[in-house]
Amino acid sequence: MRLGCWFGGCDEIRLMNQPISSSKSTNVTWQQGQVSRREKQHLNGHRSVVIWFTGLSGAGKSTLAYAVEKKLHQLQCRSFVLDGDNVRHGLCGDLGFSEADRQENIRRVGEMAKLFAQAGVITLTAFISPYYADRDRVRALLAPGDFVEVYCRCDLEVCEGRDVKGMYRKARMGEIRDFTGVSAPYEAPEHAELVIETGKLPLDECVNQVVQYLQNHGVMAGS
Ligand code: ADX
Repeated sequence: MRLGCWFGGCDEIRLMNQPISSSKSTNVTWQQGQVSRREKQHLNGHRSVVIWFTGLSGAGKSTLAYAVEKKLHQLQCRSFVLDGDNVRHGLCGDLGFSEADRQENIRRVGEMAKLFAQAGVITLTAFISPYYADRDRVRALLAPGDFVEVYCRCDLEVCEGRDVKGMYRKARMGEIRDFTGVSAPYEAPEHAELVIETGKLPLDECVNQVVQYLQNHGVMAGS
């Protein structure tokens, strides 16, 4: 078992006490629970991290995230997927796709992912998250090693060729505004922990690359 850095990077009190900029919630006090993240991780038998999948629509982020979740479940790990389309049905249903709304979308999800990490869960997020700055803000919310950026690299032509939801066609016809890759930018990561060629590799190979990364970095025991 490779468990050397299981509990590294989880200085939860320091992270939880960070001030929130421009917060309207005043006179609130952070409540400390009686069960630490360390204890939750110990119960689970693995460390918690946020695995942040980013890439174009149709690049395979959700497919990969759910396939990794299934594999982690088989490996007795507690995990959960926060998916862009799903989160926009509820928590972020009030947001559109302007730069400001995407920023707020990623901010909320980042905060939620941070809570999941405190809960000891391996959290997989599947959001286009097209802007460097938004992704880096989430990275900064978490302790070093707790944020694993995974770039699902897939050429626009391939994503558009797949067009699983028919959105690229609509975007080209001008029926959807601000569509990433067509009429809105995608800033590809330059320092992602992992780059996965989701446009070229079979799904099981992509899953293996993520799971191997987690095992090599002591999130859970190697096979
Ligand atoms: S993000 O840019 O704010 O990170 P998010 O991942 O939550 O986006 O949502 C992306 C999903 O919303 C896409 O998979 C697609 O189904 C849908 N969608 C609807 N309109 C757009 C748009 N203008 N640009 C990109 N995706 C869109």
